[in-house]
Amino acid sequence: MAAAAATVRRGSASSSASVSHAIVLAVVVVACSSFPPTSTAAKAAPCSSQTFSGTGGEQQSYASCADLPRLGATLHYNYTAATNTVAVAFRAPQGKGADGWVAWGINPSGRSGMVGTQAVVAFQSSNGSLVAYPTVLDSYAPSMAPAAPGDLAFPVSGVAAEYADGKEMVVYATLALPAGKGSKFTNVWQQGAAVVNDVPAVHPTTGDNILSTATIDFSA
Ligand SMILES: *[C@@H]1O[C@H](CO)[C@@H](O)[C@H](O)[C@H]1NC(C)=O
Ligand SMILES: *[C@@H]1O[C@H](CO)[C@@H](O)[C@H](O)[C@H]1NC(C)=O
Repeated sequence: MAAAAATVRRGSASSSASVSHAIVLAVVVVACSSFPPTSTAAKAAPCSSQTFSGTGGEQQSYASCADLPRLGATLHYNYTAATNTVAVAFRAPQGKGADGWVAWGINPSGRSGMVGTQAVVAFQSSNGSLVAYPTVLDSYAPSMAPAAPGDLAFPVSGVAAEYADGKEMVVYATLALPAGKGSKFTNVWQQGAAVVNDVPAVHPTTGDNILSTATIDFSA
């Protein structure tokens, strides 16, 4: 299946991305495969306590979840070895009606940073709808434009987003993982505070926002 952009309330995302809103992210090298609880401040609820309504209103459940070590984010996933696909729900703080965005992706290049990551991004459009689509982070100043079919290194389908508990944003996607690379990948996630002209704007370039990468084994 070809990569396809999608939104919660149907319709395709605007692609009027200008290059003026760049994302800048320092290269970081973090390889954590376990996520011990750290500080108590601003700690999100553990992933195992979270449930999802699904954008169609049906209850969604996932076999596995991980408390990601930065930004209070969690990743829920179903990995199907036979087809080498993984269905994910990425969840991160970003209140309903908030001006910002959230994104999650995997970097099939094996590098731990942002460049090369195939991501899904979600934010509230200027018309009030929550939009979500795949995008390629091809540099430290990516366009954040919706990926055209063929841009992605692997097919991504079922992209959608919704709010959860009024204070978090969820992005759903199904990834057909690249063949021959097993089930262990670098995943990278992010949140930013501003969207300008329906393009996610630069995120903070210090602290947790440049440490939000880790290795995940979907089959573990
Ligand atoms: C809102 O804008 C998005 C693009 O940003 C578009 O995909 C969607 O169809 C629009 N929704 C409505 C209800 O106009
Ligand atoms: C995940 O897998 C379980 C079975 O293990 C299934 O019940 C559930 O519907 C799947 N969730 C998604 C989102 O595919």
